[in-house]
Amino acid sequence: MDPTVAYDLALFLHVVGVVGLFAVLTVEGVALRGIRASLTGEQVRPWLVLLRPLRIVGPGALLLILVPGLYLAATIETGGGWIAAGLIGFLAIGLLGGAITGRRMAVVGPTLGLAQGSLDSQAIRASHDSALAISYALRLALALGVVWLMTLKPDFVPSLVVLGAVAVLGLVAARTRFAALAEPEVAGRSVGPSGGAQ
Ligand code: HEM
Repeated sequence: MDPTVAYDLALFLHVVGVVGLFAVLTVEGVALRGIRASLTGEQVRPWLVLLRPLRIVGPGALLLILVPGLYLAATIETGGGWIAAGLIGFLAIGLLGGAITGRRMAVVGPTLGLAQGSLDSQAIRASHDSALAISYALRLALALGVVWLMTLKPDFVPSLVVLGAVAVLGLVAARTRFAALAEPEVAGRSVGPSGGAQ
């Protein structure tokens, strides 16, 4: 295959993977909000169902980013420090998703999935799991940070500064945004994916 065509195809697939990653993060964010706002087992279950396909689509999107991304990195004419930093950001996103969200959901999912009627204190604690919120906000922030690196292409050290800055912003967002949702009166307003305050 003509190298230019191969490069363009790889870039297209890479960006499709990026679109997939942001779609996954959007669905995850909406579902996490819904889970936090739920008061009964019946309210929380549709949100868990919404999260289920992400276990396949999420790693699929990451693979679609990584494989063409490595090809692009190996063949690009003028690379730079942003590629290595982008890889670090990418690995951090994968690690947070697997080691934090994956592990926590393995506990939170069954706890909430089996709940009947009003959520008891153990289920409420599970639905407000702060590790899930922090992992989510960090991955969203890092993904945006890597888009910055990929489009503006800074050197390695400025790229690391960008990743560090977005990570701090992500942590602050996780504390403020999700902490607000933890308030019971806010939680009482919205419930299931069918929408509407109840
Ligand atoms: C969360 C992870 C990633 C995101 C959000 C992302 C995003 C993007 C975007 C939006 C572009 C298009 C930039 C443009 O055309 O101006 C791009 C290009 C590129 N990406 Fe990534 N990327 C990610 C991970 C990676 C990884 C892990 C690698 C390889 C180690 C990589 C290597 C590249 C290369 C070499 C280009 C080509 C840039 C060009 O031809 O101008 N990316 N990426």
